[in-house]
Amino acid sequence: MSVFDPMSGRQERVSYNDSSSARMLHRGCQSLAGGDSSTMRVLPYHLPLVAKRGLGSRLWDIDDNEYIDLNMAYGPLIFGHCAPDVVAAVTRQISEFGSQLGFPTEITIQAAEKIKQLFPSMELLRFANSGTEACASAIRLARTATRRRKLILFEGHYHGWSEAVFNRYHAPLDALPERGFGPAIPGTIGMSSSLDDVVVCEWNNIETFERCLQENGYDVAGVMMEPIMGNASLLPPREGFLQTVRELTIDHGSMLIFDEVITGLRASSGGAQERYLVTPDITVVSKSIGGGSPVAAFGASEEVMQAVVSGEMFHGGVFSGNATVMAAANAVLTRVIAEKDDLYPQLERTTGILAKGLHDILTRLNVPHQMNQIGSLLGVILTHGDVPQISNYRGIRKHGDFDRYITFQQHMQLEGIYFHPNMFEAMFISAAHTEEDMAIVLGRMEAGAERCLVC
Ligand SMILES: Cc1ncc(COP(=O)(O)O)c(C=O)c1O
Repeated sequence: MSVFDPMSGRQERVSYNDSSSARMLHRGCQSLAGGDSSTMRVLPYHLPLVAKRGLGSRLWDIDDNEYIDLNMAYGPLIFGHCAPDVVAAVTRQISEFGSQLGFPTEITIQAAEKIKQLFPSMELLRFANSGTEACASAIRLARTATRRRKLILFEGHYHGWSEAVFNRYHAPLDALPERGFGPAIPGTIGMSSSLDDVVVCEWNNIETFERCLQENGYDVAGVMMEPIMGNASLLPPREGFLQTVRELTIDHGSMLIFDEVITGLRASSGGAQERYLVTPDITVVSKSIGGGSPVAAFGASEEVMQAVVSGEMFHGGVFSGNATVMAAANAVLTRVIAEKDDLYPQLERTTGILAKGLHDILTRLNVPHQMNQIGSLLGVILTHGDVPQISNYRGIRKHGDFDRYITFQQHMQLEGIYFHPNMFEAMFISAAHTEEDMAIVLGRMEAGAERCLVC
């Protein structure tokens, strides 16, 4: 069979090996388009892995092969698979109170109060079912609040697949404008003209951003970014970048939107805005908030959110804030608030062991690389030779050795360590990962790197 690879933009042939996972995926392809419901999970170079169950830091496939999971379902499982308090809260909600009540519920209010406590800039918020939905609402809110239409996004940043924003965020280098910003390229076939008002700019480059703002300036409703770029490996903002963007957006009367879908509860308990002390106008959170249940939220000051309160800006959703998911979110947030003083140093320490250990291995073996750890997030970039510090999408595209990373990942997957084969994806560590887990991971990574990264 053949599959479209969004990384290369090519139609690739997939060869299946003879595992049960491979056979199951083949069966899946007869009913599910491509074998699963997200293209990211069935990329052509992804060795077949059909998951059966997860517990703590471990995952098992349908052949009962065990993996130490460094992906944590792309981030949400901040307390690991099957976290007991989350499971208990969800089970109790469903069995004693009902999964979906169709009315306001106290559990939703409790979860909202806790988000507000952790993210004080979200004075009022609304729940949604996915990061995509919440990002689309955040943009609508910025347009409503400013009565302007234009939006500035950044290269390599992903804000979901809605009509509002889905641009080719992993565009090839030759498609990127030389001057550092230009019109958004649609991310998929089948889009309308919704991106006509969207400009995409190089990230972490304040001069380029200033020029972009000067040109589009007073028409810009919102400037939206991942405050730590998490969809093109993991890159921190340069010193002062977020602060300057904040000042410039205030000067131009544009809303600053932080998409903290990845960084919320991971960069710190209060996200990147707490870590870097920069307050956006509008915030989106998701992933870790639900601990594995589909939840997201967008929020802002009371003043900005008045448009939603009054109904002037529509926001709805049958499943938005449904009770099962709210029970999960409430359990995650309760634990984060109760344990954050110990939890975050622990997450930082465990992730740091992996970061330092892998860095030492790759350095000893002379494998050129760069690495960034922020909280429980780790980005590993294998490079073609020693290159200057990479600070944005163009840098990774230019210097990243994606093929070598896939070779390493495939080898590690067969050795029972799972992280995503796309080097643009970060690794995600949970509170369930132990220092012993990291010792096992590093032992296998050392052997794996010696076998397949040394020329
Ligand atoms: C930063 C960011 N924003 C938005 C989204 C979209 O979220 P979802 O996949 O839940 O729609 C993602 C998904 O990975 C993301 O990483």
